[in-house]
Parts: sequence; C-alpha cells; structure tokens
Amino acid sequence: MQDRAGWVLDNIYTAVLVFNNDLRLTGINTAGENLFFISHGKMYGHSAYEILPASQKLVDNIQRALVTKQPCMEWGIDLYLPDSKAMTVDYMLTPVMDDEACMEVILELINANSYTRVMRENNLSVLHDAARKSLSGMAHEIKNPLGGLRGAAQLLERELKGSDLTDYTRIIINEADRLRNLIDRMLAPAAKSEIKRINIHEALEYVCNVVEAESKFNIKIQRDYDPSLPVLRADREQLIQALLNIARNAVQAINEGGEILVRSRIKRRCTIRRRHYKLAVQIDVIDNGPGVPPEIGEHIFYPMVTGRADGSGLGLSISQSLIQSHNGRLQYERIDDRSYFRILLPVEGGDNGG
Ligand SMILES: Nc1ncnc2c1ncn2[C@@H]1O[C@H](COP(=O)(O)OP(=O)(O)OP(=O)(O)O)[C@@H](O)[C@H]1O
Ligand SMILES: [Mg+2]
Repeated sequence: MQDRAGWVLDNIYTAVLVFNNDLRLTGINTAGENLFFISHGKMYGHSAYEILPASQKLVDNIQRALVTKQPCMEWGIDLYLPDSKAMTVDYMLTPVMDDEACMEVILELINANSYTRVMRENNLSVLHDAARKSLSGMAHEIKNPLGGLRGAAQLLERELKGSDLTDYTRIIINEADRLRNLIDRMLAPAAKSEIKRINIHEALEYVCNVVEAESKFNIKIQRDYDPSLPVLRADREQLIQALLNIARNAVQAINEGGEILVRSRIKRRCTIRRRHYKLAVQIDVIDNGPGVPPEIGEHIFYPMVTGRADGSGLGLSISQSLIQSHNGRLQYERIDDRSYFRILLPVEGGDNGG
C-alpha cells in the first residue's frame, strides 16, 4: 500500500527523481513519469546518463551533489528528453545523507514551458473575458433601438404598399434582422446552463452528423473514440454548440478531399486554467487544411476576429466561452501540417483541489 508521503509525491506538479550514488534511478513520482513519457517500471535501475542523455551538465551536477553533499539549483535550463524533445526546466538537487555518507540525490524538476503556458493562457483568457463582456454590454445597448428601427420600417412598409420604395424598407428590415441574429449569437453564452450527465460520444456523433449533412462536399468525418471515457456532467446543448462551431470551421478550412478527424481521449493529472485535475476528457477536432492565417494567429478566440470574407468571427469566441463555463479549455495548435482544436473538460470528481 502506498504511504501518505508517496501519495503526496504522486499528486504534486513537480517531477521528482531519486538517484543513488551509482547514478541509478531508485525512485520517480507520477509527474516524473509524465515528463519522461515512461512508466517507473521501465526506469528503475537505469542510469542518469540514459535518462538524461543530452543533459550532461545536469548529470554532472547530480554527481557533484553526491560528492560535495551540497544542494544545487538552476533555472531556465534546456532539458533534452530521450525522444529528443527539448523542454525548459527549473531544477533543484538535494543530497540525502545517511550518517556521514551521501546515499542519494533528489532531483526536482519543474517544466517551465508548461508553467509559462498556463500563465499565458490565463492572461489571454482574462483579456478574452474582458473583450467579451464589453461586447456583450454594447450588444445589449444596440438591441433596443434596433427593435424600434425595425418596427418603424415595418410601419413605413405598410404605408408604402405597392410602391418601389418598399425595396428600401425591406433592406432596413433584413439588415436589422441580420444584426439582431449577430447580437443574439454574441449574447448566447450568457444563457443559463442545464447541467446533466451526458455521454460525450453521443454529442460528438450528433455534431459529426450535422456537419456531414450540411457540407457541400461529400465529407466523411473520421472518428477515433476512446470507449472508456467516463460520463461527463455538462450542458449537452452548449457543448454541442461549442463543438459545432469548431467542426464547421474545420469543414470551411478544407477543400474537397480534405480530412477531418474527431478524437476523444482520457487525460490523467492535467492542469486546466490553473486548476489541477485527476481526470479530464480531451476532444480533438483535427483537419489537414492550411491552418489559421498567421495574421490573426492567437487572436482567433477574440470575438469579431475572422479570416473569412463572410465570417462574423464569433464561432470560436462562443465555443471558448461555453467551454470555459464548464471549467474547460480550448486551444489551437498546428502540428505536422494539421490544425488541432483541442478541448479539455474536467471530469466531475476528478478535481485535485489544486
Ligand atoms: N480549422 C481551421 N483552419 C483554419 N482556420 C481556422 C480554423 N478554425 C478557425 N479558423 C480561423 O479562425 C477564424 C475565426 O473563427 P470563428 O469561428 O471564430 O469565426 P468565423 O468562422 O470567421 O465566423 P463564424 O462566426 O461564422 O463562425 C476563422 O475566420 C478562420 O480564419
Ligand atoms: Mg466559424
């Protein structure tokens, strides 16, 4: 049975590795396993040279800590993982003494990239919230006079019965309706949510079917679902709306013959908007279109930002707001010529309380 200290170590954000005086691994926590993408069973007994093959300075410092019995600390170091990916880390080495001799060294590693990412995401999300709030306020102010404008145009149309001038009143009415729809979309996320237990795959299937049916090409979305996904507590309609906006963008981004993949996965121990969760559901909508135009880049989640001539730039902003109201996160990544729109939703009871 795992003791309390082991339990704590397995639930912290910092990766902890323990090396003995032969520089062999004698302990690793869950964050360490996640950092090195390998299970502890495979790592025990391996030397620091194997685990940290291209980080000679760090290995030297582990050795030095064993000899000098002095702790050591460094910030912003590039760590090269066995799969040749690089990562910026802060680390601390603490020698553990047994009487006079130094028996082991504890290596604590913090992934500075992910810390920076979490902070950046948080800052962006604060900015997005502020932009959304001021737009919603403006939308409310526009709504009332718009109703008056439309009503007056309708009255005028009645008076002008039979005249060519009704072409103009039609334009006023149609444009007022278009503006009203736009405003309704802007305000939509404020609607009260109805949280129930939902099967996320049922919602994904609904979205895929709608998008396939409305597409002008004969698109067949590929599905790759993890059947072990737990039931989520969420507002089904809101999640469907969020997913529809993302999936429609993917369809708009690809040409005939392009591919879209919808994937679901379970994620253990992840940080979503500065909270740690034991369990989350990850949904990826992936397409092989050209990707987000660089000039709009990371602003795509702002309302009214669009790269399409006929776009209103509200889809992703609404999706993000709906996902955030479920304590989740929506992000965009471009990997190997594919666009990834990645949703992370925490699973109820999976809160680590962090
Ligand atoms: N899968 C994608 N591939 C490439 N670009 C994308 C993708 N998804 C979104 N974008 C870009 O992000 C922009 C913003 O998307 P968003 O859904 O917010 O607005 P929109 O699609 O322009 O308008 P609408 O309000 O009708 O959805 C798009 O105009 C497009 O340029
Ligand atoms: Mg869109």
